[in-house]
Amino acid sequence: MSLLSAAMKRIQPSATIAISNKARELKAAGRDVIAMAAGEPDFETPDNIKDAAVKAIRDGQTRYTAVDGIPELKAAIVAKFKRENGLTYKPSQITVGTGGKQVLFNALLATVDAGDEVIIPAPYWVSYPDIVQFAGGTPVPVETRLEDDFKLKPEALEAAITPKTKWLIFNSPSNPTGAAYSRDEMKALTDVLVRHPHVWILTDDMYEHLVYDDFEFVTPAQVEPSLYERTLTMNGVSKAYCMTGWRIGYAGGPEALIKAMGTLQSQSTSNPNSIAQWAAVEALNGPQDFIAANNKIFKERRDLAVSMLNQASGITCPKPEGAFYVYPSCAGVIGKSTAAGRVIENDEIFATELLEAEGVAVVHGAAFGLGPAFRISYATATKDVEEACLRIQRFCGSLR
Ligand SMILES: Cc1ncc(COP(=O)(O)O)c(C=O)c1O
Repeated sequence: MSLLSAAMKRIQPSATIAISNKARELKAAGRDVIAMAAGEPDFETPDNIKDAAVKAIRDGQTRYTAVDGIPELKAAIVAKFKRENGLTYKPSQITVGTGGKQVLFNALLATVDAGDEVIIPAPYWVSYPDIVQFAGGTPVPVETRLEDDFKLKPEALEAAITPKTKWLIFNSPSNPTGAAYSRDEMKALTDVLVRHPHVWILTDDMYEHLVYDDFEFVTPAQVEPSLYERTLTMNGVSKAYCMTGWRIGYAGGPEALIKAMGTLQSQSTSNPNSIAQWAAVEALNGPQDFIAANNKIFKERRDLAVSMLNQASGITCPKPEGAFYVYPSCAGVIGKSTAAGRVIENDEIFATELLEAEGVAVVHGAAFGLGPAFRISYATATKDVEEACLRIQRFCGSLR
């Protein structure tokens, strides 16, 4: 009898975490490695948020809390949804988990049965298909095209919907491409969803605040209020508030779904960390001006990376609206060989050889379900972005 469950055969370790670990190991062994693989800002958590956590400890906020969040945090989230997204939720429609990842996990495990299909535009964040599969469902990746800036087209969404479709997972700005949907682009998709009332919408708005050039962020239930009753709007403090290690994510949605997610959480992790919850209250209610300051730096890095990557031979890099990733195509180097004679047959070999030759860690596109391409995170020092892009130029230039 096998030790591991059948469900474990349906998931794999996260490719992004695996590559970040490999880069860390090489660095520890003395190699000059620039890691462009991690999905977290290089900025510190702002001091007012840290102070709120220290105060929470001193005030004795160190015990179990309500399973799906303290009332103060739910109130801050209700206010955030109203203020920033024009969405009205009651506290009973809000759930808080240990990171956005747990919120997604709860939502999918609470709703997906064997045979249910979940539409996932590709390239996608690595965890979506694995969580769907773990829940017993069938991920239905829908490929987007570089020419469309990796955005899902309404015709492609329409064609992917079947009677078995349970959810569309939507992520704007996107990890891994950085692509974000304008109001018009979003409306074209929500128009399709209006025609299919059995499809639920799980929108992952984790990168909401990381948009550049005056781009206006929108979320599905805001653009098409008639979808409100079947939309789970998920978000978190990890990225915009530089709080990846604190582990607080949240969602707003229909009460019955929120309650089921809480039941699941009550039997797994119970409440998210009490101290981090108080820090998140301060993050959402406190000053927001540091976000614009960080975004100015992110935008400069994005522009630098896009410009330098487009100068690398065989690389084409669209300029995305948000997040801190770019997703260049490496189609132009496939079939070429390294100086040592290794043929670049696919994007995984490209990433391995790039790491070997130049010490630059990127994540291959196949991990995100659409290649040949690779993801670069520019949430790292500007000088490292520049140096990494120079090395990529040199590596691509060396291929024959
Ligand atoms: C698109 C997307 N959703 C969700 C998450 C998970 O966020 P958290 O760290 O809060 O679990 C990430 C983190 O990388 C992400 O990129």
